Amino acid sequence: MSTTDYPVDMSVQPEVTAFFDAATNTISYVVKDPASSACAVVDSVMDIDYAAGRITYDHADQIIRFIQDKGLTLEWLIETHVHADHLSAAPYIQAKLGGKLGIGDKITVVQDTFGKIFNEGTEFQRDGSQFDRLFSDGDNYKIGSMPAFAMYTPGHTPACMVHVIGNAAFVGDTLFMPDGGSARADFPGGDAGVLYDSIQKVLSLPDDMRLFMCHDYGPNGRDIHWETTVGEEKAHNIHVGGGKTKEEFVKFRTERDAQLDMPKLIIPSLQVNMRAGQLPPADESGKRFLKVPLNGL
Ligand SMILES: [Fe+2]
Repeated sequence: MSTTDYPVDMSVQPEVTAFFDAATNTISYVVKDPASSACAVVDSVMDIDYAAGRITYDHADQIIRFIQDKGLTLEWLIETHVHADHLSAAPYIQAKLGGKLGIGDKITVVQDTFGKIFNEGTEFQRDGSQFDRLFSDGDNYKIGSMPAFAMYTPGHTPACMVHVIGNAAFVGDTLFMPDGGSARADFPGGDAGVLYDSIQKVLSLPDDMRLFMCHDYGPNGRDIHWETTVGEEKAHNIHVGGGKTKEEFVKFRTERDAQLDMPKLIIPSLQVNMRAGQLPPADESGKRFLKVPLNGL
């Protein structure tokens, strides 16, 4: 779909509350309908001490407490993509507060890729059935009375989607803040040229569309920020702003990606997030384990 075909409605202004996770530089959001008590959670985080193999839920508990204290009804848990740098807490939050869990329908491609890399057996379903809703390009949904839709924005991963809720867009890992640039495109299934096209799609939303980042690393020592606008990104984004061409972007992105280390939590993140945030199934002893594929990534 071209951007003009998406049902943009700038008159709806959701109330957005951010929850920054310092361990992974992830920003999770509660997005509330101004006209009702309905809300959605976008990209939650489950805490892991990977060295110790210990899972905890402090970050998710903050979000749960916020929703309970305000008396909100959680209708949706949205994952912008299968994250490679943090574990999703969506099933944990869903078990306490309800709501439907949704991700892009290209999750099946990601499940297929990583199902092979982690040599998962046939009990690992690769049809996205771990989620309640699989969005395809332009699919609509509602949070209370707020209109929301999802658009395909592959490139960082095949299943990336940007969710547009009224005048707020949750960009996942397509764009970072203007001084942060863009996400890497070198994971299995990633593609710098495809990412460029997806970013152009985001940048053709209205200039005053609010954009909410999934990550910020506070480049050059600045404080952490997570909100900007399409207009700001178009003018100032260091990787794509000021009319950078696709060729310039692909060359830069490819060279940069070749120098990046793997994210510290990629191995546990993929195994959990490709299961919609569920831990791998217990073995016959009742214990759960994560795998480390040697020379597999
Ligand atoms: Fe990501």
